[in-house]
Amino acid sequence: MRLRDKTAVITGAALGIGRACAARFAAEGARVVVADIRPEEGQAVADAIEAKGGEALFVETDVRKRADNERAIDTCLDAFGRLDILFCNAGVTLPKRLPESSDEEIDRVLDVNVKALLYAARYALPIMEDQPDRGAMLFTASKTGLVAQKNSPVYCASKGAAVLLAKALALDYAEAGIRVNALCPGIIDTPMLERFAEAMPDPAAAWQAYSAAQPMGRLGTPEECADAALWLVSNEATFVTGVALPIDGGFTAM
Ligand SMILES: NC(=O)c1ccc[n+]([C@@H]2O[C@H](COP(=O)([O-])OP(=O)(O)OC[C@H]3O[C@@H](n4cnc5c(N)ncnc54)[C@H](O)[C@@H]3O)[C@@H](O)[C@H]2O)c1
Repeated sequence: MRLRDKTAVITGAALGIGRACAARFAAEGARVVVADIRPEEGQAVADAIEAKGGEALFVETDVRKRADNERAIDTCLDAFGRLDILFCNAGVTLPKRLPESSDEEIDRVLDVNVKALLYAARYALPIMEDQPDRGAMLFTASKTGLVAQKNSPVYCASKGAAVLLAKALALDYAEAGIRVNALCPGIIDTPMLERFAEAMPDPAAAWQAYSAAQPMGRLGTPEECADAALWLVSNEATFVTGVALPIDGGFTAM
């Protein structure tokens, strides 16, 4: 019960990495707000947590909207009394070169992957500062926030921004006792990766290539990301802030 009595808002928690983190945080004692744009899958995540004896609430949230981020945080405060953990995890990809990327596609990636973090963190920081135990933030960036990949310039730019935002906030709030870190998954077996592969000319070959390109010869799992996320937001990491932690099976060591 490494998050006993803690509360958490997790965005993008209906699928993939966010879903695994919501389940893991709840299993470790956290009361969780599941914030996602997908009502059906998001409610199912909250229901599954409650069915196992945990506490969770689903809040329909489009993280592109400032007010939605604030409502998810307010729901955590109203229902659970505090905001101990803000985990901005929702993200979208854009597997295209820059000249093929439309204004709308660029806006979507930057709104979800960058502006949502700014909105949520800006709202949460004064709330955490007013709490005796302060709090912890985590942003899901990516290995592509550390090293670039082909055909994804907008996505890489957005994840690089997420890494540096975590570091910048970590510095500004270190003295206040609010920790801010970034999780940098490598290639993880989630619905996002399935959609990414489907956008390739030969999806089956693309899927094979993802595993083959890994030093460990396999994809990562959402549960492996959840283990790392759990540690970063827990009291086991109280001297860890401003870190961009790769969960990538050695990919960024190459
Ligand atoms: N899967 C990978 O290989 C991988 C690698 C590196 C980083 N990441 C990052 O990890 C995070 C989670 O990715 P995933 O693989 O679990 O993706 P996923 O697509 O499986 O899940 C993403 C979740 O975010 C939600 N979401 C998307 N847009 C939203 C919006 N506007 N408002 C609220 N929720 C929204 C989706 O509904 C979904 O539940 C993302 O930030 C992604 O960029 C994933």
